[in-house]
Amino acid sequence: ATITVLNGPNLNLLGLREPSHYGNKTLADIQASLTEQADGLGHRLPFYQSNAEHELIGLIHQAYRDGVDFIIINPAAFTHTSVALRDALLATQIPFIEVHLSNVYAREPFRKHSYFSDIAKGVICGLGATGYALALQAAHQLLAERQ
Ligand code: DQA
Repeated sequence: ATITVLNGPNLNLLGLREPSHYGNKTLADIQASLTEQADGLGHRLPFYQSNAEHELIGLIHQAYRDGVDFIIINPAAFTHTSVALRDALLATQIPFIEVHLSNVYAREPFRKHSYFSDIAKGVICGLGATGYALALQAAHQLLAERQ
């Protein structure tokens, strides 16, 4: 299957960005280990990062046109602001898992609200890069059950 991974704003700065919240791994490190995991499970794993809301919306529309089976998304700050990204996921009906590196419940109150969690298959937060690996494992299982 094809599982697209979408990363929102400032995640290109992983590694140097607030390591106490986000860890020391770069986004390239995460992509490399996730791609290896996807290869082992027999999935294609297009992987993107954008700082622009309209680009992420475009990538969701593109995923729909390409028949992508599942999305793993860390919407980053757009988690707490973007009705438009939520609507793109609702419009395309591509099942998705929401991932956050940090425990958003242990931080500022504004991070407790997500525009995605109630429409996600599941949400993983606070486990760092491991959260992406767990999301891929779960996506693999959900897709296998769907067959
Ligand atoms: C984040 C949490 C968000 O609140 C924050 O704006 C991010 C990253 C995370 O992965 O922990 O940019 O999504």
